[in-house]
Amino acid sequence: MRILSGIQPTGRLHLGNWFGAMKQHIELQNGGHECYYFIANYHALNQITEPAVLREHTLNVALDYLALGLDPQKVAFYRQSDLHEVTELTWLLCTVTPMGLLERAHSYKDKIARGIPAMHGLFSYPVLMAADILIVDANLVPVGKDQKQHLEMTRDIAIKFNQLYGEVFVVPDARIEEATAVVPGLDGQKMSKSYNNTIEIFAEGKALKERVMAIVTDSAAVDAPKDPDTNNVFNLLKLFITKEEQAEWRQKFTAGGLKYSDVKKRLVERINETFGPAREKRKELSAHPEKVEEILAIGVEKARRIARATLERARKACGIG
Ligand code: TRP
Repeated sequence: MRILSGIQPTGRLHLGNWFGAMKQHIELQNGGHECYYFIANYHALNQITEPAVLREHTLNVALDYLALGLDPQKVAFYRQSDLHEVTELTWLLCTVTPMGLLERAHSYKDKIARGIPAMHGLFSYPVLMAADILIVDANLVPVGKDQKQHLEMTRDIAIKFNQLYGEVFVVPDARIEEATAVVPGLDGQKMSKSYNNTIEIFAEGKALKERVMAIVTDSAAVDAPKDPDTNNVFNLLKLFITKEEQAEWRQKFTAGGLKYSDVKKRLVERINETFGPAREKRKELSAHPEKVEEILAIGVEKARRIARATLERARKACGIG
């Protein structure tokens, strides 16, 4: 099985990124699969127009993944922009991508509705994403739920190209971890940078506590019985604890006498236990950015071996080169 996924360097990564995608990415590297993971800096250019900021976020994503256990021996880990074959393939795919397909993209429509300028790059974002995936002949793409439609578009584009020019591309499947697909943010909406309701994976100490304390809860009296399922703190804590501990908390909620601050304390504790070791590793790594560069350089060469062959096949099939 060949697996590929990408993550955009648009800000510090948060629990939504972790449970929605990164955790699966790291687990899958140990399953005997061939994994390709990359930092989607060309995609991020739609959002970030400060060169220094984009560079900083790109390095941060690399540090985060490596600290959290991505093993560059097992995975080809690279920067999207270093694999030039991707942008060349994007054009070939553009020529078979119906406008109507792109016009139906929820993510694009949402962004426009929120007042983000309607740039061509934003509109054709799913074509670049299709190229990322198709260039390495990926079979499986583990992504967050919000990317489901983009994956369907990739499939449509691949099928269209294959119909026109012969069997050039592998048609990939999405892999969405339903159990952790929705991570609530501080306000109970989906955790997302664009809603400014995130808890960063590498937040620690006072900053972490402040974020957790800011999780919105209702004003029910301590004595009152409470519903765990509509509680933002419980819904986050749930992701970090065993089924047994979940049952204990449920019991405390419904019995009455529960203080939300105690649930918050437990959440901080679990975040510290879960990411504590990675924090140390990240500090060590960030002192040696040249090592990160080296890892990314090796990673892109691994990806390029396949990317070259796929691009050649696609070019030949449509009468280029
Ligand atoms: N669009 C994805 C996101 O925002 C990032 C991404 C870019 C990606 N290219 C990809 C994910 C290819 C999977 C496969 O999360």
